[in-house]
Amino acid sequence: MPLASVNLLLVGRVLEKDLYSHSGILLLQKGTVLTETHVQLFRKQRINHVHITDRTWSEGNGEEISNQLMDLGTDQESVAFYLEAMEDTRRLFESVELERMPRLEEFTEAFHKVANCTKKRMGLFRSLYVLEGADSYTYRHSINVGILSTLIAQLLKWDDERVKIMGAAGFLHDIGKMKVPKEILLKPGKLTDEEFAQMKQHTVYGYELINEMEGCCETLLLCALLHHERLDGSGYPEGRTKENIPIECQVLAVADMFDAICSDRVYKTRTSPFEAAQLLWKSACEGLLNIEIVTVFVRYIAQLYVGSRARLNDGEEVEIILIHQDEPMRPLVRRKKEFVDLRNHRSLTIEKMIV
Ligand SMILES: [Fe+2]
Repeated sequence: MPLASVNLLLVGRVLEKDLYSHSGILLLQKGTVLTETHVQLFRKQRINHVHITDRTWSEGNGEEISNQLMDLGTDQESVAFYLEAMEDTRRLFESVELERMPRLEEFTEAFHKVANCTKKRMGLFRSLYVLEGADSYTYRHSINVGILSTLIAQLLKWDDERVKIMGAAGFLHDIGKMKVPKEILLKPGKLTDEEFAQMKQHTVYGYELINEMEGCCETLLLCALLHHERLDGSGYPEGRTKENIPIECQVLAVADMFDAICSDRVYKTRTSPFEAAQLLWKSACEGLLNIEIVTVFVRYIAQLYVGSRARLNDGEEVEIILIHQDEPMRPLVRRKKEFVDLRNHRSLTIEKMIV
């Protein structure tokens, strides 16, 4: 376990043990990825040495994600692109946290690397929802929502320029979270009303941060501000209703909700894309999300998993055989030698993709 001197070389390294102040107060937990702010804190607390692991954040997380992607049969080039984009994203988002605002171009460059890659290789896209682990959620969520927003814009047959803007809008939509205290952002339990009120502010912070970026446009600003608005007026921060929510923000709401449901989080394990699609569908029927966007998206997503293996909620493994147009979330599956139409077995759900 290396004992390292406190200096800026610590940025990006990972703490090996919980770190206490000289008076015995817990300052940082084991596993924290060190930033410049932490280094300043150590100096203030007159801490001259800390125990760090042998790996940097990207090596640690990267290796884990890379192993999982490789096991899923994703090709090496796609894995490398995804990891590079993750590392760029972490660097850029942390820079925002330190109040050094990168240029918009830097964000779009980082994102387009991985977006171009997923466009060519659907295997990588499919694998994103089989990855495990809640680490680095904000970065992964940003990349994934960028990819999903691009995809939905393409499915809606928007022109190339608009598709590109949607990618950037998805990538940047949660950037305001960098201004929300980490204790709230990473809290495993339920948030108190006051904490939730602070969490909601990430939409406004996002608007303000993007507004500072050179070359920003209205779509980026509105998507950050309004991606939690719901068509029936139950969303935040303004409680707008359908006619006052730009269609781009409605697209982003679908992409955001899908990724949040499908991912492992500190407070929950992920849901399969089929269950997530079911929840989106329910939200659309209840008047929260745009039903046309959800329909197009859900059909496409379900189709991607034809031929994949999955586990049902009764523990049985099945293969996805056919997607029905009327209920894409309840496909025809093969269990051993028998075919089962999930439309006729309402208690069965697809709990986990195995691929
Ligand atoms: Fe958000």
